[in-house]
Amino acid sequence: MRKGVIRPGHVQIRVLDIEPAVRHYTELVGLIETHRDKPGRVYLKGWTESELFSVVLREAEEAGMDFQGFKVRDDATLTALGRDLRAWGVEVEEIASGELEHCGRRLRFVTPTGHNIELYAEKTYTGPWGISRAEPEAWPRGLRGMRAQRFDHCQLHGLDIEATRDLLSEVLGFYVTEHVLSDDGKNLAIFMSLAMKAHDIALILDDRHGKFHHAAFYLDNWESLLRAGDLLSMTNTSLDTAPTRHGITRGQTTYFFDPSGNRNEAFTGGSTHYPDQQPYVWNEASLGKAIFYHHRKLSDMFMEVLT
Ligand SMILES: [Fe+2]
Repeated sequence: MRKGVIRPGHVQIRVLDIEPAVRHYTELVGLIETHRDKPGRVYLKGWTESELFSVVLREAEEAGMDFQGFKVRDDATLTALGRDLRAWGVEVEEIASGELEHCGRRLRFVTPTGHNIELYAEKTYTGPWGISRAEPEAWPRGLRGMRAQRFDHCQLHGLDIEATRDLLSEVLGFYVTEHVLSDDGKNLAIFMSLAMKAHDIALILDDRHGKFHHAAFYLDNWESLLRAGDLLSMTNTSLDTAPTRHGITRGQTTYFFDPSGNRNEAFTGGSTHYPDQQPYVWNEASLGKAIFYHHRKLSDMFMEVLT
């Protein structure tokens, strides 16, 4: 936040067939469809989110992530950060206001891990869905499925996560909350945050460059996560990992797949970080426990499937 980047704002996910994808993200994950645009993209949000949308689904030949966007303080900050990104040595593409409906101009760059990250300052403000600003009720009735509160973070795989860490920290003000080191001191995984969350982005060293591991959606609590696991079975949804706990972040998690094979995470809890706290460190030998605190080992599916 010290550079004016506030939080994750949106993710655009490629899906093979739009209608089954919409059903998955609304009826199962519990996001709310807000609108569709002329090219046929579908816009969604979690009920606590204050802007009109946070997830965009685009029908394409191949699954994966098009981009993750972060909200910055204001338009002057956006201009300044564009200048800083170019000075750091990345090319910055300006995308006109309205290309994403109800979103202002965006500045997009490619990270050293090969991912499109973009910044924006303006998006239509709606407030949370289903509760009023004055004297809000505890939660809105009419939520579906897992009742996801918000889009929370993405995990991205590629080469050169350390250069990406440097870019995100030096230019955009992210800081490292937790990381995994190899025996020879190389970063294998880096978790970064803009504020007090355990992570707003996760970077994993992988020679499958520029790939997408998952988008995560925040649920209320452990009970909600257990219920999410029940819903996955009730709907015969393709499962990666049943509800359990992470070592890294200490959050609770379940992983599953959308109908196009993109991995989703339902996530809750997790450590909080004040900015003066030094990052937690895990060693390569404990990677299994770091990821899945109870099983203490990684599954093939978790390691192998990327989109
Ligand atoms: Fe995650």
